[in-house]
Formats: sequence, structure tokens, C-alpha cells
Amino acid sequence: MSLNLLNKFLVFFFRTNKLGELTLNQVGEKVCISGWLEFKRGGFFTLRDSTGSCQIVCNIEYKLPEKESIVNVEGMVRARPEKDRNPKMKTGDIEVVCSNMTVLNDCKRRPFTVSKFITTKEETRMRYRYIDLRNTAMQRNLRLRSSFILKLRRFLCERRGFVDVETPTLFRRTPGGAKEFIVPTRKPGKFYSLPQSPQQYKQLLMVGGIDRYMQIAKCYRDEGAKADRQPEFTQLDLEMSFTNQDEIKQLVEDALVESWPEELSSISAPFPCMSYHDAINLYGTDKPDTRYGFVVKDLSELLKDITIFQYASSLSIRGICFTDGCEKLTSKQIKTIQGNVRKQHSLRLTVVQIGENKKWIYPGAQDIFPVNTMDQVNDYLGVKEGDVICLCANRQWQKACMALGKARTMAASYYEENGHPLWDKDTYNFLWVEDFPLFEIDDEDRLHSAHHPFTAPATEDYEHLVPHPMEATKVRGQHYDLVLNGSEIGGGSMRIHDAATQRYILEVMLKEDCSELEHLLEALESGCPPHGGIALGLDRLIAIMCDALSIRDVIAFPKSTEGTDLMTGAPCELSQVDLDTYKVSVTKKENTNKED
Ligand code: AMO
Repeated sequence: MSLNLLNKFLVFFFRTNKLGELTLNQVGEKVCISGWLEFKRGGFFTLRDSTGSCQIVCNIEYKLPEKESIVNVEGMVRARPEKDRNPKMKTGDIEVVCSNMTVLNDCKRRPFTVSKFITTKEETRMRYRYIDLRNTAMQRNLRLRSSFILKLRRFLCERRGFVDVETPTLFRRTPGGAKEFIVPTRKPGKFYSLPQSPQQYKQLLMVGGIDRYMQIAKCYRDEGAKADRQPEFTQLDLEMSFTNQDEIKQLVEDALVESWPEELSSISAPFPCMSYHDAINLYGTDKPDTRYGFVVKDLSELLKDITIFQYASSLSIRGICFTDGCEKLTSKQIKTIQGNVRKQHSLRLTVVQIGENKKWIYPGAQDIFPVNTMDQVNDYLGVKEGDVICLCANRQWQKACMALGKARTMAASYYEENGHPLWDKDTYNFLWVEDFPLFEIDDEDRLHSAHHPFTAPATEDYEHLVPHPMEATKVRGQHYDLVLNGSEIGGGSMRIHDAATQRYILEVMLKEDCSELEHLLEALESGCPPHGGIALGLDRLIAIMCDALSIRDVIAFPKSTEGTDLMTGAPCELSQVDLDTYKVSVTKKENTNKED
């Protein structure tokens, strides 16, 4: 064995000190440290490990390896001269004088500089994720994620009697919901499906007497990845027997308050509640960001006679006031908001600037709006000089509100972009949204579950549970969502626990084929306790805690926006032998060279 190799082997027998933990108290102490060579200049270099980095003084003539090589140093801690101390560095008061250095592993590839991850293209970071994971933000995010999940688990299992149960990820196709990923088997024509969530298994656990179930569950949905969406993601999944909505909400609040990271500003319970109706009416969305105002107001009565809005009968006219919008939003941004509302909601946004003496600056305003109408709207919206108001009309009040809801969130992010943020960085506004409609109706008048088909209808709305779509949309579900800073971080419901109602909802209301859910219907007939639960989207919640722009920044190995793993190349093609084993024939290959 060469001396160098022997050295590499021997260092593992030494107790190595953690780099970020070296302090002035250790001056004069001999230390053995290992880490990545981060930076080198002259006779100095820095080594980095998971705890931080430290400066090494190397008087001996060593040929230093490339950055990101793994190096072991033996040496003595010494205080830096006063003038060389670095207050920005955890170990900035000291340095280690190297007496022996061993290169444990040379770094031969360095596609990007770890400390420059912010300016590195995301594809490059994903392609070399094992290097990207070394950056300070990913290190912090994954550690915060780990300790938060540990606290949640301990709170639920040790203090609230929950049982952590793993449910299968090889599941069967089920009707409704998101598209599922399928897994071929050796049996011709037989496929597993990956679960969208453990919903059915957790209900079956209730039938099986595991009356308080929890799981940190992997879920799979074949839908495009976005900043807050991944095809595979993680939920904190919960279910309880003999419970009610209030108990579930309180449990979630207690779990979050107890497990909330100490380094973040604290949160307190109970969280406020809002009905679905109020959320749409006031904020134009079912997941309102309540950190700022800009509330939508009903101007139907005040503006009903204005000709520009008279293109539809029984009109609903809504308005919103962006305080100091003339100064804090650019005209280009206002145009982008208008364009976006037109594209996504097919609605026209009337934008009025408020001038001196609250005069409306809008082409032909004096001919379109009577003076007293403008005054009344000004008073009602509480406008002042320099504000911008947006007006929107539609036959359906929800549509007018939702168009303004879009304008509201876009405007808020422009305020922030332009250096006029509307909230403090460390504000955490939780909100329960409840009283959702049980069904949504599509363009072909077909009903779909607003949450999922196992959600119990509100008991007082059973009279509307008839197979007439418009009537059925009056039924509310016993469904609740948890929203944090405008992001839906959880959803749950009380479940239907009798087979007859479940069969009726599936067959009569949703027109689904019950044969695919016989296992569940049979279980409901086998002594199923009343039950309910919730699932929190952990990636979204932790991304907000970490102030990350995307959930990809809190997932060790995320998928790209196209749903691929840029590091391993998944999904990949299979050989003909494998395809034959799984009796799969590929009928048509997509042209992967086509230009997007
Ligand atoms: P739901 O479908 O509302 O409910 O999901 C619960 C929470 O999971 C998160 N989430 C996602 N996170 C990242 N990527 C995705 N593609 C994604 N889809 C959902 C959201 C969401 O609020 N079984 C029910 C829960 C129940 O009824 O108990 C369910 O899965 O934060």
C-alpha cells in the first residue's frame, strides 16, 4: 500500500473535528479536519463540511488539489490577527495551521461553483444535484425539513396516540382525480397504479381499528411540475375515527405550533376560518393570501346603469383599489395584468387612475361615469389620489371576483418586485377555508368532486343531493383546506362512512363505475366507524418555511418541469427484452428532437 493510500485509510481512525464548530477556545489545540476544498489563494485555503467552513494556513509546499476535492488536514488552531478576523464567517476569528495534508479524493469534475448556485442555471443544478446539495441553502432546507418532520412524527405518535402505518405504493387504478402513473406487471394486461394519496388505505385502516393513523406518505400524480407541484410529492397524511371537523383542525394547529422551527418567527393558534363563499367574494380565490388587503368590493348597485358594463343582464360588477398604484405599479405591469386577466379569465379589466381631487383618469371618463357615481365609488373603495382602481363585470359574480383575484395577486408580486413589499418577510398567515361546494360542474354539465368522492355532504344540504347538476352544486361538502400565505398547504374532509350514500354519490351523482371501488364499499358495510382526516402537502409547507421560490428547493432529488430526473435520465427507454417480460408494446415513439 502506498503511503498516501495508507494515510487516506488511517484518517478514518482519527476523531475529526467539525469545521464550523472550531472556536477561539481551541487556540493551541491539535485538530484533524476533513472536508471539501472550497477556495484557495496563496498559502491559504478554506475547507467546508456540513457545519461550516474554516481557513487553513498552509506554509508547507503542498500542491493543492482542485476545488471540491476532499482533503484531510491535521494542524493547530490559532487566533487570527485582529485585522484579519472575518465577522461574516462563523469561524472567522481563527484559522488552522496545517502540519499535514492528505488529499482523500481528487475532484475531477466541477460543472459549477457551489457558492454560485443562485446564478447557476436550474438544469445544471438538477443535472449535478449531488454537487448542488452542498450549497448552504439546500443544506439548510433539507436539515430544517428533517427536524420538522421528526417533530411532527414525535408529536403525533408520542403525545397524541397516532400509529405510523406504511401503506402500499403498488395500488390499483381508481376512478376520478388526477391522472395516475401505471406500473406494468409480468401478467399480460395487468397494471398497478401508483397512489395519488393513501386516501382509500387510510379509510380502510379506520375500518380495521387503527383509529389514529399517520404517515409521511409519497404520492404520485401524473401532472406537470410547477413551482408548487411535483409528479411525486410528500404528504403528512392523517385519519381519525369518531372525530369531527373541529377536532381535526385543532389537532393540525397543535401539531404545527409544537413542531414549528425555532429559528422562524413563531405562529399561534387557533387559525382564522373563512367560508369558501367569502374567500371568493373578498379575495377572488379559494386560497387567499391574507397578508395584505386589496379586498374585492361589490359595486353592482353603484355601477349598474353605466353603459360600458351593460353587455350582460343581471350583472355583477366588482372593484378593487390598489393603494398608491400610480407610483408603485408601472403602466407596463398594469397592461400585463389586464392581458393576463383577458387570457386566463376571458374578461376585460377596466383600469382607472385616481388623479388630483380624486378625479378619474380614464378615456372619456366624464361622459361615461356621472360625477356622483365616481364620488360614491371613491368613498366605497376608500380611494385617494395616486391609487389605481380596477373594475370587472360578469353575469356570474364568482367570475368577476376571480378575475380581480388574479389582478390582486399579480399586483402584489409587482409591488414586491418594485421594492414596495406589502408584508413582512417572516409573516405566516394560516387560514382555514371551509364550506366548499361538494361538486364542481364542467362545460358539459357533468359533476366532479371538488375534493374527492369520499367527502361527506353537509348534513343540512342532503335535500339538494339529486342528480340535477345545478341543484347538486348547492350541496356543500364537509371539506376544509388549510392555506398559508396564499398557498394551499392541506386539504381534508369528514368521510362518507355508509356504503349506500357512497354508492349513490359515485353512481348517481358522479356517474362513476363502482366496480373499481367494490373493496371500499364492502369495507364500509363491515362496521366502519365515522371518520375524517386531512393531508398536509409537506413540500409546499416547508418551501414557505424556507422562503424557497419552488418546492424543488426543499426536495433532495426533484423532477424537472417536464417531469424528468435530469441527473439519472428517468424516465428512460426499456430494452425489447424488458418490454417483452412486461408484455408491453410501444406503439409510437414521440419525436424527441422536435423543436418546442
Ligand atoms: P389533496 O389532493 O388536497 O388531498 O392533497 C393534499 C395536499 O397535498 C399537496 N399537493 C401537492 N404538493 C405538491 N405537488 C403536487 N402535485 C400536489 N398535489 C397536492 C397540497 C394539498 O393541499 N387524500 C386527500 C387528503 C384527505 O382528504 O385527507 C388529498 O390528497 O398541499
